This record gives sequence, structure tokens and C-alpha cells, in this order.
Amino acid sequence: MLIEKLKSKRAHLGVVGLGYVGLPLAVEFANAGFRVTGFDLSEEKTRAVGEGRSYVRDVTEESLRRAIEGGRLVATSDFSTLAETDCVNICVPTPLRKTRDPDVSYIVAAVEEIAKHLHPGMLIILESTTYPGTTDELILPMLEATGYKVGQDFFLAFSPERVDPGNAVHTTKNIPKVVGGVTSACTEAATTLYRGCLETVVPVSSTRVAEMVKLLENTFRSVNIGLVNELALMCDSMGIDVWEVIDAASTKPFGFMPFYPGPGLGGHCIPIDPFYLSWKARQVGFEARFIELAGLINSFMPQHVVTKITRALNDEGKSVKGSRILIMGVAYKADIEDVRESPALDIIERLLELGGEVSYHDPLIPDITSEGIPLRSRGASPQDLAASDIVVIITPHRSFDMEAVTAHAPLVLDTRNALKGNHASHIRRL
Ligand SMILES: NC(=O)c1ccc[n+]([C@@H]2O[C@H](COP(=O)([O-])OP(=O)(O)OC[C@H]3O[C@@H](n4cnc5c(N)ncnc54)[C@H](O)[C@@H]3O)[C@@H](O)[C@H]2O)c1
Repeated sequence: MLIEKLKSKRAHLGVVGLGYVGLPLAVEFANAGFRVTGFDLSEEKTRAVGEGRSYVRDVTEESLRRAIEGGRLVATSDFSTLAETDCVNICVPTPLRKTRDPDVSYIVAAVEEIAKHLHPGMLIILESTTYPGTTDELILPMLEATGYKVGQDFFLAFSPERVDPGNAVHTTKNIPKVVGGVTSACTEAATTLYRGCLETVVPVSSTRVAEMVKLLENTFRSVNIGLVNELALMCDSMGIDVWEVIDAASTKPFGFMPFYPGPGLGGHCIPIDPFYLSWKARQVGFEARFIELAGLINSFMPQHVVTKITRALNDEGKSVKGSRILIMGVAYKADIEDVRESPALDIIERLLELGGEVSYHDPLIPDITSEGIPLRSRGASPQDLAASDIVVIITPHRSFDMEAVTAHAPLVLDTRNALKGNHASHIRRL
């Protein structure tokens, strides 16, 4: 019955959590022909969706409007509509607590709402990144407490979201979707749903395998970035250009994949997800040493940037205290409007603590608060650049005029190799 509804696109889909992951997914489902209801606690977001205003850069207003036309996509904060849905995808945040333990409270809250409206034939899929075992240890008992049985009365699966915000080539539609169900009937139901709108679906044998896939991918990135950051620290001490080393190593046609150093990790994934895995590993008596070591090195990078700024100013006979420091780019990566976990925030905070006169330029992030001080993005005109003691490139958005930075800033620290090839004496690199 459910499979038929999914194949014929008569199934009514629900997406819980309309953020960077949930909104693109809801729009994709709707534009594939499904009727979709998006649920979010934020009425600001549900209102924006209703009015066809996209707050996620990867979702164009044109595709959002297409989705809401004819009522194929609606958004609400009223969870009673869950009773009318055939499938629900959960896309809520999975942050860390201050103790670096997983905070699954958003998942629990979402599942509590779903459990109230669980009905026969319903499919629930968790997409939030989480530790292996979340789906069958945490969610399954909550849903079965209703008296319904998984694989018979309702279906439950995990499918990691792999979206890469700002990436126009690899999108929700064409990134292969890994799916693991609690039972084979659950996998079949979830696979059928995604095959109806995404290009490639990759079924795996269990929810735990699917959960671990996502953590392997993000741990792989965190560990390799940690390795290359350590190499950058080594090269800095030895007077070797780490970027030249990586570029030359990248000419090897096999067995090497370039990763690049930077001012530190950012975003809701790479700095967080590996700790979901190390936490779970500790529960079974296992110390995830690579994860901890990469975490240590990566979280040291903002301090290293501050040391480089201090040294560069010192060479000019200046101290951080009282120097005008212009930070270029505070988003956690180029060309996106997301500042979560951005190393720029840590760097700005440390510089303010040292008494620096810090300002920033980021057309995608109009304001931030650091050390309780509200900061607004300012201009980066030739005069602004020239009036700074040092310009620090943290996140080089495509819109930045790098030639102007090189020409007008008296001193530059480039943490991303954005001024590639320019070895002028006023340009320092990570
Ligand atoms: N952002 C990424 O690049 C990315 C990529 C892959 C996977 N993920 C994972 O996807 C998940 C979601 O991340 P995101 O970046 O979309 O987060 P987000 O903060 O952008 O969006 C989450 C949304 O969920 C809403 N929400 C929270 N609790 C809710 C509840 N109980 N009911 C309804 N709505 C609720 C919030 O208001 C918010 O709009 C996380 O587990 C994350 O690790 C994120």
C-alpha cells in the first residue's frame, strides 16, 4: 500500500526541520511531484516558506515558488498535520553539549511529536547525523511504545544527509543517497521513496551501517584536515611553503588526495560529527585516538592564526593591542551565509581579548556578536584596506577583490592561500 503510494507519488510527505538540510529536501520532494508538508518550530521559517522566500542559498526562490505553487509544499509549526502524512523525514540539529557529548534532544523532541501521530503504514526516516545505534536504540523503542510494530505496522530507516552547502555541482538531487532500514521492508520503503526523486540510491544492510557511513565520511575529512594542518605547522617552523608542497604532491595520479590547511574547522558537521562517533566508541570501551588527535590539532589552528597575526604586527613594531585588524570573511566556508562554529569567531574573540581593534568584512554575514560586543560587517574599499594595520583573510568569498587587498593593505595574513603565487613581502601565509 505504502510502496504503491510512493511509486505513484500519491504519498503525502513530511519533513521535520526546515534548515540547510530539510528545506532543500522538501523542495526536491515537492518538485518531484509529491505533496509535502514541512514542519519547523520556527514560525519565521514556516512563514518564509509560505511566502516563497528562501533563506537557504542553495534553494533558489524560483524552485521554492515552483514547489509552493498549487499547494504542493506547505510549511507549518502545527504538528497535528503529521497525522495526515505517509512518510516523515527528520532533519533536526544534532549539536554537541559543552562536555562534547551528543545532544540528541532535538531528535527526541521530533520523535515525541511523530509518536503522537504514528499510524499504520507510516515511514519514518532519520536524516540528522548521529552516532550508530540512534535509530534502533533511541527512536525505535519510542515508536514501538505506541503498540505498533516496526516492519509490519510502520517502517523506520536512517539515511544520512550528505548535502554540501554552496556546492552547485553536487546537490541534494544528484548526491547518492545511502539508506539502511531496521528491517528489509523498511529499507525497501525508504529506497522507493528516494528513487522517486533522487538520482542514485545506495541501500545498505542496517541503520547502524548507514549511520556509520556518514561518520566515516566526516571523520575522514576531519582526520585528513588535521594531518595537513599539522604539516602546515611543521612547514611553518621549517620555512617551507606548505601550499607548494600540497600542489606538487597532488600531481601524483594515484594514492594521494589533497586536503588543505586553514584557520580551523567550521560548520555543523566536521567539527562536531566525529565526536558523536568517539562518544559512542567510549560506550563500548574503545578510545577513538585519530578523532581526538585531529580534534586537538584542528582546534589549535585559530590560536596559531592569532600567533601569526601577533608576529606579523610585531615585525612592524606594533602590538595586537590598539592595532586595526580587518578580518575578511567570517562564514565558515566560502560563498555561504552560515557562521556556525566558524573559526573566525574564535579568532576575533581572541584578538578582542588582546585589545585589538577588530572589524570584519563579509557581505553574507551582516552582523555577529563577539565577547558581548555587536559587530557589523563593514566595507573593504581601498581606503578601508589602507587604514588597517593588518588584513586577515579567513574566508575568501568569490566576491572579494583580492587584487585590491594585495594593492592597498599594508600587511596581509592569508590563511587560505587565496593570494596564491603572490610572495610580496607584506603578505604572510599560514
Ligand atoms: N548543514 C549541513 O551542511 C549538513 C550537511 C549534512 C548533514 N547535516 C546534518 O543535518 C542535520 C540538520 O542540520 P541543518 O544544518 O539542516 O540544521 P539547521 O539548524 O539549519 O536546521 C534545523 C531546523 O530544525 C528545526 N527544529 C529543531 N527542532 C525541531 C523540532 N523538534 N521540530 C521541528 N523543527 C525543529 C530548527 O528550527 C531548524 O530550522 C544535522 O544533524 C546535521 O549534522 C547538515
